[in-house]
Amino acid sequence: MFYSEKVMDHFRNPRNVGEIADADGIGEVGNAKCGDIMRMYIKVKDNVITDVKFMTFGCGSAIATSSMATELVKGKTLDEALTLTNQAVVEALDGLPPHKIHCSVLAEEAIKAAIKDYYDKNQIAYDASQYCSGSCCGCAHRHNKD
Ligand code: FES
Repeated sequence: MFYSEKVMDHFRNPRNVGEIADADGIGEVGNAKCGDIMRMYIKVKDNVITDVKFMTFGCGSAIATSSMATELVKGKTLDEALTLTNQAVVEALDGLPPHKIHCSVLAEEAIKAAIKDYYDKNQIAYDASQYCSGSCCGCAHRHNKD
């Protein structure tokens, strides 16, 4: 058995799929390892993520991890959402096969890119070191409008 029940559940019934037309922040990242792409949309009110949706051209593990990641950040403050790691998402899914761990990086980075986009649009200062420069995990993320 390669995939946990939770992975299969989120793959078959992904939560929060779609787009938000009037999103406050949009993050798009690509996975250098496989070429898959993910876009994350957030609505923000009083520093809290009130809604989040994602679209991905990615594999089943990317879909499952994004789905779980959206559930984990919904209702959280931006600072809380920024601390979400791909490991935490993988743990929440009861694990992924080792060769699919890289897929979970997309979800974490897409959320971070969406928050960064929100900060940029609203000219809110942020700590740039919280964001991946593309060298931390070999994933060459394509951040929004960099
Ligand atoms: Fe590309 Fe999973 S194989 S994200």
